[in-house]
Amino acid sequence: MERTFVMVKPDGVQRGLVGEIIARFERRGYKLVGLKMFTMPREVAETHYAEHRGKPFFEGLVRYITSGPVVAMVWEGKNVIAAAREMMGATDPQKALPGTIRGTYGIDVGRNVVHGSDSPASAAREIDIFFKADELLNYERPLDRWIY
Ligand code: PPS
Repeated sequence: MERTFVMVKPDGVQRGLVGEIIARFERRGYKLVGLKMFTMPREVAETHYAEHRGKPFFEGLVRYITSGPVVAMVWEGKNVIAAAREMMGATDPQKALPGTIRGTYGIDVGRNVVHGSDSPASAAREIDIFFKADELLNYERPLDRWIY
């Protein structure tokens, strides 16, 4: 089973979308194995977005992501890395399909509500940045036999 990192960004928290976003993953059948809420320190934001350092949007992105509490999650399930990206929709909400999280709740790329890892390597790296090994849970769900 794959694991991916998903984060409700400060605008999503302020707009009361945490429950809605969690519900979409739960209803689809994915399993929540890690969850925490915090305000991201600048150094952590710079590490998380290190590959974008030097791009014109970098400073704005760091200011945005550190501007208020975020909700960080790890979701587990078959093909969850790609599926989570599909469920979120395109990075720019203007290009996100209706029905996706960003296509439903977003307008501007600088306030795009959620983040999700874009590859297995990113998922491993991002989970490691935000969660210690003992903060990720392994547990059985009887309903899994109705999902798989
Ligand atoms: S790139 O250059 O194609 O790799 O960038 P991209 O993958 O589209 O986006 C990387 C992250 O930067 C955010 N982003 C922005 N934030 C603020 N303003 C602007 N203009 C902007 N453009 C891109 C984008 O949401 C990505 O963040 P995450 O958290 O990964 O979604």
